[in-house]
Amino acid sequence: MCGIIGYIGSRNAVSIMLEGLKRLEYRGYDSAGIAFHTDKGLEVVRCKGKIRELAAIVESRNLFSRAGIGHTRWATHGKPSEENAHPHRSDHIVIVHNGIIENYLSLRKKLLDKGYVFTSDTDTEVLCHLIRDYAEDLPLEDAVRAALREVKGAYAIAVVSEKEPNKIVGVRKDSPLVVGLGEGEFFVASDVPAFLSHTRNVMFLDDEEMVVITPEGVLVTTLDGTLVQKEVTAITWSPAMAEKGGYRHFMLKEIFEQPRAVSDTMRSRFSPETGEVNLEEFGLSQELLAGIKKVYIVACGTSWHAGLIAKYMIEELARLPVEVDIASEFRYRDPLIGSDNLMIVITQSGETADTLAAQREAKIRGARTLTICNVVGSTSAREADAVFYTHSGPEIGVASTKAFLTQVMSLYLLAIALGQTRDVVSRDRSKELLQELLLLPGKIERTLTAEEQIRAIARDYFKARGFIYLGRGINFPIALEGALKLKEISYIHAEGYPAGEMKHGPIALIDEELPVVVLAPRDKLHEKIVSNIQEVNSRGGKVIAIANESNGEVCDISRTCILVPDTNPYLQPMLLVIPLQILAYHIGVLRGCDVDQPRNLAKSVTVE
Ligand code: AGP
Repeated sequence: MCGIIGYIGSRNAVSIMLEGLKRLEYRGYDSAGIAFHTDKGLEVVRCKGKIRELAAIVESRNLFSRAGIGHTRWATHGKPSEENAHPHRSDHIVIVHNGIIENYLSLRKKLLDKGYVFTSDTDTEVLCHLIRDYAEDLPLEDAVRAALREVKGAYAIAVVSEKEPNKIVGVRKDSPLVVGLGEGEFFVASDVPAFLSHTRNVMFLDDEEMVVITPEGVLVTTLDGTLVQKEVTAITWSPAMAEKGGYRHFMLKEIFEQPRAVSDTMRSRFSPETGEVNLEEFGLSQELLAGIKKVYIVACGTSWHAGLIAKYMIEELARLPVEVDIASEFRYRDPLIGSDNLMIVITQSGETADTLAAQREAKIRGARTLTICNVVGSTSAREADAVFYTHSGPEIGVASTKAFLTQVMSLYLLAIALGQTRDVVSRDRSKELLQELLLLPGKIERTLTAEEQIRAIARDYFKARGFIYLGRGINFPIALEGALKLKEISYIHAEGYPAGEMKHGPIALIDEELPVVVLAPRDKLHEKIVSNIQEVNSRGGKVIAIANESNGEVCDISRTCILVPDTNPYLQPMLLVIPLQILAYHIGVLRGCDVDQPRNLAKSVTVE
């Protein structure tokens, strides 16, 4: 996620902003920049790379300023580069922005027609020119208001003008923005850690609220100008805790960021009214897809689990055969892949060695490659024929959670798009599938409310010698994912198994000591999974069931159970996995494991 900092006061804004951006580094970024007022006017300095490089540029000039804004960028539109770095400038207006402007292309065209010249690929520059356009006749805050009335999307912005050097205007919608109240100095930031070392008095802006900051103080209004009385919160977190947003670990923070990660990733990718998925978001054309006879998917670890789920989605919704491989296997077998195949590469980091090798192997054999990736400009993204970026923001915890959910969601959209292209999914069916997707963030929120119940379950089972996870159909990969989450952060051995396989061996493991997690949603295989639960019960096993709210009777035949909201069978895995993420997290914490940096693991496996 990008980072924002703004300062007005009597101390040196340049050093305060550099320090604030350093405190936001944990969020992950690929470029940085600051804008500051001096007696020579409003200056902008930015660079690709790390803040230390930015500091080297400005510190050599021994600058002093009393007001400015700064930014660390996590690229979503446009590759990491100096031109795409924030702050962006349009004449006397300078802006920093977090979020996604959905209608930036139409606004860009309108501004080009008015003669504005663009120097970047970003949606932010469009907003900058739009504000500049209104600032011709309006004070800064009114120009910002007028511009935002034309904007669709998510934003947290801080804007300054060379003509009004003692003013910062901030606005938020679906992306956080906070205000720090110091002694005769004021801050605006995307996150508390940016200024926590200077003040603990914070105002949390709500959506569509604007703050106007001057040396005299702060004024908060709604976007239509109505004054808002905001309460001031005294933050008690330590700086280290503040980086985690008050959560104990990044992993837990990222589990709870999933509703927003899914919302951000679906934003502007489809129209629920028309049932149309924006194929160009995948970088794929109708004619390319029409020639595809079979889809291959390669990935590693959790991303491979997303690929297994995609097989069910694409084969059922698009009636296209799908072959899913673990990348380290694909790269060494002699795959029958060729020019009439699409290879989907799933990788959060975009740097996993085995996945890159498999992607290159497919390309050599003539397949078109589409990568589903969370890092703009990563190797996989640069080498693929087409890229679909998830927008989950940087995932700091080694155990993948929010990235996995956005991968599955992206594959759901792709399956619908493929089904539409092949006239297998009707418009009405597509609208139905997309309407249900719009409800997903709210259902994820509701699922997260079970955390305390799941923590209690973790307390009952954290000493277990091993676990088995069972699932059927599209939820079998979630059994694998739940087992992997537990293994990698608690070091307890765990296996994911197709529930129908129990009789072929694993049932020998069942006894009073072995917790068995069973994914039991109300779907076409429900009766089968219920009989699997009975099999486990009859051998004294302890069943932890994850079921739907509509089939609570599963709780009557389970030692304990967690209920998740109902949804369609394709989105169900995204809800069932959440209790398993939380269960693994709390068991890992109870066992004293380093859940953010588990032993022997790296966030990105860039070597074989
Ligand atoms: C997931 O919790 C693990 N950290 C690991 O399996 C990971 O999914 C795998 O290494 C693939 O990483 P990638 O998505 O960045 O390619």
